[in-house]
Amino acid sequence: MIDVIIATNNKDKLCEISGLLKPYGINCLSLGDIGFADEIEEDGDTFFDNAYKKASFISKKYNLPALGDDSGLVVDSLPNELGVRSKRFSPSAIDKENNDLLLIKLEHEINRQAHFISQIVLYFPGGRFFAYQGRIDGEIARDFRGNNGFGYDPLFIINENGKRMAELTRDEKNMISHRGRALAKLIEDIDNEIVTFQ
Ligand code: IMP
Repeated sequence: MIDVIIATNNKDKLCEISGLLKPYGINCLSLGDIGFADEIEEDGDTFFDNAYKKASFISKKYNLPALGDDSGLVVDSLPNELGVRSKRFSPSAIDKENNDLLLIKLEHEINRQAHFISQIVLYFPGGRFFAYQGRIDGEIARDFRGNNGFGYDPLFIINENGKRMAELTRDEKNMISHRGRALAKLIEDIDNEIVTFQ
């Protein structure tokens, strides 16, 4: 098994990522596993900036490959309000309050189109890095449904199947989600030996 640090404090994200990478011989270490307890400030203007910052910082500090994921919800009728700032949309940054605020802001809105983006950066000691992006399109519902997932999942209606993201099991979500799609591109490059761990 190859050790890769997943540069996130989000346990849900970690579970989704390690579930996908384990079958490829990658042992995902959490920041807790390596004793890193600080927050890495996500102050970039783009998903790439933040994912690169997290992955490169942790890889350089611990001299191991590190994977950073920066993700978020983009809502067409609220440009510039979510995106890279999705986590801190409401003042408390708590998922439930983020979702409640989103419902309030869209109360009289007809255009409810949205998409999730996941930007992944895998950074190796020495400076080699690989970047991938995944996307899923959908719309924002007017009520909550489903108990799985995290963040905006109970409000996100997936275009392809009409289900809420929170109604999917972890494996179902990984098959279709923005993060699953970004990781599938990484896995393809591992299979094709474009990404190597030597
Ligand atoms: P960050 O990537 O840690 O900055 O977090 C991004 C924020 O976007 C999360 O806190 C969630 O609010 C939201 N988000 C990212 N990915 C997902 C997802 O898969 N489902 C629901 N919400 C998500």
